[in-house]
Amino acid sequence: MWSGRFRQPLDPEFEKWQRSFPYDQRLLPFELAASRAHANALEHAGVLSSEELSEILKALAEIGRRAESSPEFLNDSEAEDVHHFVEKQLAALIGATGYKLHTGRSRNEQIATDLRLFVRHSIDTLHTLIADWIEAILAHADAAGGAAMPSYTHLQPAEPVLVAHWLLAYVEMFLRDATRLADCRKRANLCPLGSGAVAGATLTINRQAMAAELGFDGPTPNSIDATSDRDFAIEFVDALSLLALHLSRWAEEMILFSTSAYGFVELPEAYSTGSSAMPQKKNPDLLELVRGKAARVTGCATTLHTLMKGLPLAYNKDLQETQEALFDASDTILGMLPLVTGFMNSVEFNETKMSAAAQTGFMNAWAAAAYLVERGVPSRLAHEAVGKAVALAVERGCDLQKLPLADLQAIHASFDASFHASLGLTEVLALHDVPGGTAPRHVKRALQNARERLAMLRSQESLAAR
Ligand code: ARG
Repeated sequence: MWSGRFRQPLDPEFEKWQRSFPYDQRLLPFELAASRAHANALEHAGVLSSEELSEILKALAEIGRRAESSPEFLNDSEAEDVHHFVEKQLAALIGATGYKLHTGRSRNEQIATDLRLFVRHSIDTLHTLIADWIEAILAHADAAGGAAMPSYTHLQPAEPVLVAHWLLAYVEMFLRDATRLADCRKRANLCPLGSGAVAGATLTINRQAMAAELGFDGPTPNSIDATSDRDFAIEFVDALSLLALHLSRWAEEMILFSTSAYGFVELPEAYSTGSSAMPQKKNPDLLELVRGKAARVTGCATTLHTLMKGLPLAYNKDLQETQEALFDASDTILGMLPLVTGFMNSVEFNETKMSAAAQTGFMNAWAAAAYLVERGVPSRLAHEAVGKAVALAVERGCDLQKLPLADLQAIHASFDASFHASLGLTEVLALHDVPGGTAPRHVKRALQNARERLAMLRSQESLAAR
């Protein structure tokens, strides 16, 4: 590919070590598509005759066919990278005409193009997987109806909420993840072809046409930038690491809630494992791996950030290291989403236990303070009075609503006979009567709104349209 200027052979160990073909061969479909676009543009520019063009296009198609029909075709210990592989194969198929394809272009623009196509393809695949995942959460939120559970701050019981409200918190996270990917897709969807090695192609070539042929929104504006930045890959993996992070939070809560101490979640056997030692065990392996994979995806994001930091313009071979971290993050998330969706579709919530837990542990204490505030007691003083009532209830081993009125009035004169009725679960939930709050009428609307946003996500052919 470039041996003309060299008098000595490469050190064999180095030669082997620097190759990216073992992992960038997966870019072959993109490399072939980009090569087709380049070939068409070369013919248009008068560099290739129409016979040469059709010869090249046929050979490119043949390479694609061979790669698909037999994986051994890709066992090439000489190819340095996917670009070199295609060039070699072209030459093998059509001789010198094959070498004409490289006219005016550089591998630097090719890899930048292939990687953008890869990112775009991954985002488009993720689109449906994320929608299915959100759908699975929403199905539980729908089914939960008016069931309640404790919410926690500092992992201490805080206030009762609707189970649907809790699940909708996750729906928000994953809807945001989807929009983040859509946003990333917009910036990634520009075509570097025609950027050459760094300064632009060495012949007048129709960049607009190449971009259009590959479904890009247009050509990249600057050849130095286009051949050397990988921020589209970083954005993508950053978005994936946030998605993984959200999944890990969900996994952690499911693990916690499946323990006997909580008993809110019944682990589906199809996604759990037993212990080789302890016969009674059902372990949440899927959830633990989901939690663990977040580390891996975050690691990929860190690799890419660190790789790019301080790198001078334009192309440097360091950039080859983009690929494995990018692929790994993408594969990890693509592999995980269908599994968490399957898990969610089979998991069962114990609403009886959840609702029971929502009615203990003084989670109505803030509602009790609100009751006093409504009667004109300044908030701080109401807080203090209820605090004393809680201390008394703790002492007596009962709930707030079990304290006799006389004892309450000894704490504060504003407690009256309506106090006990204001502390029921229904009353406490209804108290949070703001959009975004857990009052059932707002949760009902939020659920509907989430459904609409999911439908919008689904109706888009790809995230492109957002
Ligand atoms: N395999 C290389 C990569 O992934 C392709 C670009 C090589 N360019 C070069 N000037 N050596 O970065």
